[in-house]
Amino acid sequence: MKRDGEKIPMVTAYDYTAARIADAAGIPIILVGDSLGMVVLGYDSTVPVTMDDMVRHGRMVSRGSSEALVVVDLPFMSYQVDAAEALRNAGRLMQEGGAHTVKMEGGVSIAGTVRRMVDAGVPVMGHIGLTPQSVNALGGYRVQGRTKAAARRVLDDALALQEAGAYSVVLECVPAPLAKVITERLTIPTIGIGAGPDCDGQVQVFHDMLGLFPDFVPKHARKYAELGSDMTRAFEWYAEDVRNGAFPSEAESFTMNERLLVELLGEES
Ligand code: KIV
Repeated sequence: MKRDGEKIPMVTAYDYTAARIADAAGIPIILVGDSLGMVVLGYDSTVPVTMDDMVRHGRMVSRGSSEALVVVDLPFMSYQVDAAEALRNAGRLMQEGGAHTVKMEGGVSIAGTVRRMVDAGVPVMGHIGLTPQSVNALGGYRVQGRTKAAARRVLDDALALQEAGAYSVVLECVPAPLAKVITERLTIPTIGIGAGPDCDGQVQVFHDMLGLFPDFVPKHARKYAELGSDMTRAFEWYAEDVRNGAFPSEAESFTMNERLLVELLGEES
């Protein structure tokens, strides 16, 4: 797609229903992001997310998607300890979690591990710039690469991932002009989130796009629907119908032969 100049849309999904919807919409890449820690599991960061969480949600998404490439995040500390453990965990995501490929945060520092994975047959998508698993080390969710030295680091990370065999790289919260340079320098596609319009693709978090996560809406998110408030209205309407007897009606009820009921009641007396 990069070679053909075709932009790549990617969204996150965390369960069967969401994956079916994204797949039916023709989204070519579905990411089972560890952002599920915040938007599904209710943590205040992605740090507590476990391998078991990712395997479970990966399996749900892979059952719901028939066309899309399913990418599953390796969670915090599942690949940083050593390459052997990283490989075992990536294998688990592919064998048990339905992943076609995995995604890992980091650049130069994890390039050796990425090489081991790629050599073992695990396709790797990198993730650099703002890497949310390192939020405590970064001192918050901040744009990365704004100074000359920081921009150099992001560029070096991108080049290291490509050199290590990653097939694509997510650029999160990187200034648009830097993302443009990286996209031009790399032969592999860049997927941006808060990285401007010149990346080869874009990724958005399902809940941000659909107005389902009111706790925090990042600057880089665009709402394409307001499903959260639609859902609240639907539940209010339903509760009102139950309270006033409008639900269920005949249409939502089942019938039986009334004569049988009369007979049954007759037997009791
Ligand atoms: O976990 C996630 O949803 C992500 C995207 C923000 C790229 O990594």
